Amino acid sequence: MRKRQIITGTIAASLVLYACKKEKQDPTYNPTAATVEVPAYVKTYVGEVPIPADNAMTAEGIELGRKLFYEKMLSDNSTMSCASCHKQENAFDDPRPFSEGTHGAFGDRNAMAIVNAAWDKHFFWDGRRASLEGQAHDPVSNPIEMANKWPEVVKRLQNSEEYPDLFFKAFGTSTIDSTLVTKAIAQFERTLVSFNSPFDKYYYKGDSAALTQQEKNGFMLFTGKAMCNNCHLTNTLFTDREIKNNGLDENPKDPGLMKFTGNAADRGKFKVPTLRNIGVTAPYMHDSRFATLEEVVDFYSSKVKQNSPNLDEHMPDFGSGINLTQQEKTELIAFLKSLTDKEFITNPKFSDPNN
Ligand code: HEC
Ligand code: HEC
Repeated sequence: MRKRQIITGTIAASLVLYACKKEKQDPTYNPTAATVEVPAYVKTYVGEVPIPADNAMTAEGIELGRKLFYEKMLSDNSTMSCASCHKQENAFDDPRPFSEGTHGAFGDRNAMAIVNAAWDKHFFWDGRRASLEGQAHDPVSNPIEMANKWPEVVKRLQNSEEYPDLFFKAFGTSTIDSTLVTKAIAQFERTLVSFNSPFDKYYYKGDSAALTQQEKNGFMLFTGKAMCNNCHLTNTLFTDREIKNNGLDENPKDPGLMKFTGNAADRGKFKVPTLRNIGVTAPYMHDSRFATLEEVVDFYSSKVKQNSPNLDEHMPDFGSGINLTQQEKTELIAFLKSLTDKEFITNPKFSDPNN
């Protein structure tokens, strides 16, 4: 170890000499390794924040990714950034049922919250992308979202005053390409961890006063009669990270996972979303069909379509439903709202760096 330090020291010294000779100030590539801190109980259940081998986290990479997440140059007419549809105050979700693209077009799915996404295995409602890096590639060129072309994005960033230097600091090269852009954005997204809700304080940190009796009753229902934790696991993430059919429709209009696999056995399957910060991410479900948590809980209580294709085996099958009483519904909703992490939705480290 010591030997290696000496060797790198020598190389660095000769680089400095070389730079002086040429009278050109190449910034030295010396990124700061970064880790994302999560509570010990999270590590026990789901491990550290997973980091892909080819995209190590650095302070410079995260800062660059944050800047790019809020960068309107990514869209064709420079009016829209990722954050236009993924708003921090809504846990990086869009409060509009369907997001409007740069030219007034609307998609047919609700934007998704970006919360503890580092642990996810599938991205988008139909799970068609397997990594945050892969995911970040798509919205830029999606004609009903940012409607741009990657070569154009790269050209704009390359010609800007500040970006070439920021890419050098993060990746050791000032030659920008789409791979590096998506790597930086993914690094920033992996820092979006949320584990500081009142529920965390109560359940994992032992503060029995952090929840009201009503919220505690709701949690008992969540893991008991209502069986929500069959899929929205109490594994600290509140999702099993799978793609499943929760029985919204007898005849699903949007084929979900089947759109991507072509397999009829995947019809009607959608990503099981996290329920963290669910109180600030309305409207709900892939097509925003429910405006409120009251409507969501009504659905699970008595409106699940038992003959929906590929209905998940973990959907409680009580024939006519689990039929929660009005009081139980109120308690369950109170519990769901206790998963809102105020620190997460106001943390200045995640906000627009230009403000
Ligand atoms: C015009 C609105 C819009 C813009 C701009 C936008 N998104 Fe999205 N985002 C969406 C919608 C809608 C979905 C869900 C689409 C689907 O499932 O087909 C989504 C899904 C995602 C997901 C998947 C989350 C999950 O849990 O699977 C991530 C991550 C994401 N977007 C990140 C980004 C990034 C990074 C950018 C910028 C490069 C961006 N988005 C730009 C609307 C937008
Ligand atoms: C069989 C697995 C399963 C069970 C059990 C389950 N869910 Fe879900 N949940 C899902 C899936 C899948 C989705 C996404 C469905 C879609 O949009 O098509 C979802 C979506 C949701 C959403 C909307 C999330 C968003 O971001 O729009 C809420 C809220 C929710 N579930 C709460 C609950 C509650 C409360 C219970 C218990 C009464 C429950 N779920 C039981 C699988 C399940």
